[in-house]
Amino acid sequence: MPSYILLALHVLAAVIWVGGMFFAYVVLRPTAAAQLEPPVRLKLWVGVFSRFFPYVWAAVILLPVTGYIMVFDFYQGFENAPRFIHTMNGLGIVMILLYMHVFFAPYKRLKQAVASENWPEAGKKLNQIRMLVGTNTVLGLIVVIVAAAGRYL
Ligand code: HEM
Repeated sequence: MPSYILLALHVLAAVIWVGGMFFAYVVLRPTAAAQLEPPVRLKLWVGVFSRFFPYVWAAVILLPVTGYIMVFDFYQGFENAPRFIHTMNGLGIVMILLYMHVFFAPYKRLKQAVASENWPEAGKKLNQIRMLVGTNTVLGLIVVIVAAAGRYL
């Protein structure tokens, strides 16, 4: 596959994942908290995550796959790759593991709690997701800066 397609898919995956988290955390979260009662708000978030997470799964597969192909295409392996690529790889793996924890742990329990209308439990799980997505948003913004500016540093 030509490098420009690999890079385009890689950057698209980063934009959709990090941009989506940024919107959810910085825009939708405070608006929903200010306007919606907990039961409505918790159902809203289950709906939002169930639509956003398939795109995140695509991103957490596409980013390492296109990233590793590019590492071997552009640099013939990690030993020749500049430091910013190692930073992107390391932080990228942390972001992917954090997301998988969110998906298989608090998100799964959030869905169960909302289905059984256990609002205090659902609120606790949403709080856990908020902290982990907040962390991943900051990491994602740092990785994008490192990816774009790294070669000049
Ligand atoms: C998971 C492991 C990852 C690997 C192995 C990887 C590898 C790479 C490589 C080899 C490039 C091309 C760099 C060049 O042109 O010399 C690149 C570009 C880029 N990567 Fe990653 N990446 C990974 C994860 C991520 C993540 C998680 C993000 C964002 C959240 C990201 C965002 C970017 C961006 C924005 C560029 C384009 C930089 C530019 O051309 O200005 N990457 N990545």
